[in-house]
Amino acid sequence: MILDRLTALFLVVFCLNGFVFTQQDLTAAEGRKLDLKADKAYTHVIEPILVNNCTGCHGADKAKGKIRLHTPEEITKSESIIADGAGDIPMIFRVNLPDDDEEVMPPESKPRLSAEQKKLLGWWVSQGADFEKTISELSVPDDINVILTGMSYSEPKQIVIKKAFSLPEPAGAADAVAVAAIEKSGALIMPLAQDTKYLSVNAINVAKSFNDEKVKLLVPVKGHLTWLDVSRSAVTDGAAGDISQLTMLTKLHLENTAVTDNALQQFGKLSKLEYLNLYGTDVSDAGLEHLKNLKNLKKLYVWQTGVTEAGVNKLKEAIPGLYVNTGWKAPEEKPPEAKK
Ligand code: HEC
Repeated sequence: MILDRLTALFLVVFCLNGFVFTQQDLTAAEGRKLDLKADKAYTHVIEPILVNNCTGCHGADKAKGKIRLHTPEEITKSESIIADGAGDIPMIFRVNLPDDDEEVMPPESKPRLSAEQKKLLGWWVSQGADFEKTISELSVPDDINVILTGMSYSEPKQIVIKKAFSLPEPAGAADAVAVAAIEKSGALIMPLAQDTKYLSVNAINVAKSFNDEKVKLLVPVKGHLTWLDVSRSAVTDGAAGDISQLTMLTKLHLENTAVTDNALQQFGKLSKLEYLNLYGTDVSDAGLEHLKNLKNLKKLYVWQTGVTEAGVNKLKEAIPGLYVNTGWKAPEEKPPEAKK
């Protein structure tokens, strides 16, 4: 209740300033201004509302009410944007029910959609629920224009993560016994996002005791483990054989560990790897030779190692578009994500 009032207060304050911010915007500090000419109605306005409020229950992982709303295909299949027998469009009908209605979406226990978000969903559906058209290709009545003009856009976190590794979802959840064993080691094991069965493991809290023996605990969840952070841990080359079995890894932090070129020699199978941090380790150009086949690698961190410019250039030839942070000088090139 108090929260609702606070939100209302915020909205009033922002409205007085001449802008209307939706609830989502208040938390999307890093967003950019919505581009009313070029941005798409679905991708930039509607999808963020659905991902932030609906797809945790109606998404890749769960299909409450037997519907999923996380892709255009699933939304279409769900029939939630076409009128039912009573002439109501389920998606619009549900979100506009009174807050205490048993059938309101999101369910009562979850944060409400703002009035603006409800209006935007209604507008998009009334315009044909198109997944491709830009905002400017649709008819935008004044009240919608006011909302859109004040809005910002930031890509929902779950979409960013999905794109970051673009792997098909694992069929089932990771083995519970194996997960419990990892938890018992003190390492943090978590789903990568609400919407996925992929896992991340971070041993930073127990770095000193997380050694090669502990790495063995990770092998049983290799089908799910996609981010691993064992930086500053007691991991050595002795763990390389086990790490090389974690073939779903997209991100691997090994900085400030005792690993050397001997470990890299075994990493050829980590073909999905996109991010590898070897900062402060004893690797050299000879070790980088073994990374040449990691064609998905996008970022490599090798400052304070034995790696030379020549070694970096050779690897870059083998992996076009690779960003290597060497720390020798202020990098002239920016990491890919900073381009935009
Ligand atoms: C906390 C979980 C949860 C969230 C979040 C959630 N829903 Fe639901 N939804 C359910 C459950 C459970 C049902 C099935 C029970 C029911 O019909 O009320 C359902 C049913 C529905 C249905 C009816 C499906 C049918 O054909 O019977 C629609 C439409 C719907 N949700 C849309 C949405 C939209 C749109 C959002 C986001 C604005 C949303 N839901 C958020 C749990 C959720």
